[in-house]
Amino acid sequence: MKQRLVSLARGAGLLPAFDALRFMRSKWTSAAENARFRETHPDFDPPPLWWMHDMYRHTSYDLYWRTGQETAAALASRIDAHVKTQSPRVADWGCGLARVLRHLPERYKRTGFDYNARAVNWCTDHIKGAQFFHNGLMPPLPASNASFDALYALSVFTHLSEEAHDAWIHDIARVLAPGGVFLGAFHMKLSPGQLLPEEQARFDAGKLVVRGRVKEGSRTYVAYHPESWLRSHLFHNWEILEGPIDFFGQSLFIARRP
Ligand SMILES: C[S@@+](CC[C@H](N)C(=O)[O-])C[C@H]1O[C@@H](n2cnc3c(N)ncnc32)[C@H](O)[C@@H]1O
Repeated sequence: MKQRLVSLARGAGLLPAFDALRFMRSKWTSAAENARFRETHPDFDPPPLWWMHDMYRHTSYDLYWRTGQETAAALASRIDAHVKTQSPRVADWGCGLARVLRHLPERYKRTGFDYNARAVNWCTDHIKGAQFFHNGLMPPLPASNASFDALYALSVFTHLSEEAHDAWIHDIARVLAPGGVFLGAFHMKLSPGQLLPEEQARFDAGKLVVRGRVKEGSRTYVAYHPESWLRSHLFHNWEILEGPIDFFGQSLFIARRP
């Protein structure tokens, strides 16, 4: 029922208005906790709340900080398992507000990319030890061929069309060095009733499910990935090294470039 209502709101173009209301509520309910967080973390330079809501669907500084640290530690363990250089060149595509990149080991050469120019500007001004670049909705990344040992994308393909998936996986292969690895988090595990019956039928048939009718790349534009589609389509000529791994509510695949 809830999914059907959301679908109707999506069709009527009402999702951005509902999302703005949700933001007001979230900002209000997290205000006291955020004030406490700033008292206990006096050096913390807070990201703009609207962009936090837009990317993470919450406005909690504590969650931004804690989940960023935990995710970075988990990611670094997988990068170090597959990339055998002391200072790997690591790219975060769809870095948002550098929630994760800022916590990666300082021995990494860190680069962030995002199609949200304001988020990129915020990162450039506030995050030390990394470089940030803006890219378009579609490729290419503003990076030379073979310039990274590892590239990760957390909850980025989850907001793109099938056409964008196909274009980006080629560009990711282009910017990875020979032997380079891609780490991607996808929407694969679904709870009962999460998809509408017609979406579930498509998912069960191994097809990508995309909920559009809002701006592509935004949080409310959602793609769901059947495992068979990832293996036979997105990664068809890649060497899958690990996956799917439960990864903070999504499923992580690690693959070596073709
Ligand atoms: C749900 S947020 C996740 C942010 C970050 N990866 C994290 O886990 O904290 C999705 C991010 O992907 C970015 N994005 C969406 N489409 C993109 C594209 N085509 N190229 C680069 N970034 C994109 C959005 O601007 C947003 O920052």
